[in-house]
Amino acid sequence: MARRPMVAGNWKMYKTAEEGVILVQDLEPLVSRLWNEVEIVVCPPYTALKSVSTVIELDRLALALGAQDVHWETEGAFTGAVAPRMLVDLLCDYVIVGHSERREHFGDTDVTVNKKAHAVFAAGMVPIVCVGESLETREAEETESFVRTQVRAAIEGIAAEHASKLVIAYEPIWAIGTGRTPTPESANDVARTIRATVGATFDQSAAMSIRVLYGGSVNPENAGRFFAEPDIDGALVGGASLEAESFAAIAEAAL
Ligand code: 13P
Repeated sequence: MARRPMVAGNWKMYKTAEEGVILVQDLEPLVSRLWNEVEIVVCPPYTALKSVSTVIELDRLALALGAQDVHWETEGAFTGAVAPRMLVDLLCDYVIVGHSERREHFGDTDVTVNKKAHAVFAAGMVPIVCVGESLETREAEETESFVRTQVRAAIEGIAAEHASKLVIAYEPIWAIGTGRTPTPESANDVARTIRATVGATFDQSAAMSIRVLYGGSVNPENAGRFFAEPDIDGALVGGASLEAESFAAIAEAAL
């Protein structure tokens, strides 16, 4: 089955609402003709979601919207947190779950990542589950087993009908924002392991349907080499998603 590539921009803690609107208005004309082939997703910070959502909706921009995190409860006394249905209300289709920065700085664990993945599906959205090893793990040659464990934990108990929609981003921590990347071949080896793990948990059809993204220092120069790998279906892009031209060039490479 042919998988539609996805190129998703994780804006992290950059861009006010106004700056975000300008970015999507600059971006969309550069990428709109790709839409049938490539799904392009922007993930602004919470405070820009409403404005970006409104401009996507009113101007009928060919972009999908994602959030960067979510709480797993439907509502409650959780100061500072945002519930899945609040993101649905803003027309989010996707939620990034378990980014290494959330795991490192905000205490996300395999257990909470799993809860968030469940909550996102329950609300009718799709999680972009992030996994990836530290440099220490890579040097110990434990990348594959580490990532397999992270994937198994994240998808535990997910309903079979949701499994095929999963998006899993392989982001080696040491490649994020550093300008360093694994070789495309070695990223593909991990992507294949991710796919096989989903296959072992669910079935072959789910394994072949899920989209596996590569993330970590993706730029217009290197993107095409990752996208040429058979098990890599796109990218989760940080820094290079903050400018329309560079993000558009990466999306173009996914064609
Ligand atoms: P960079 O593209 O800036 O390395 O960030 C990758 C990332 O963390 C995307 O989620």
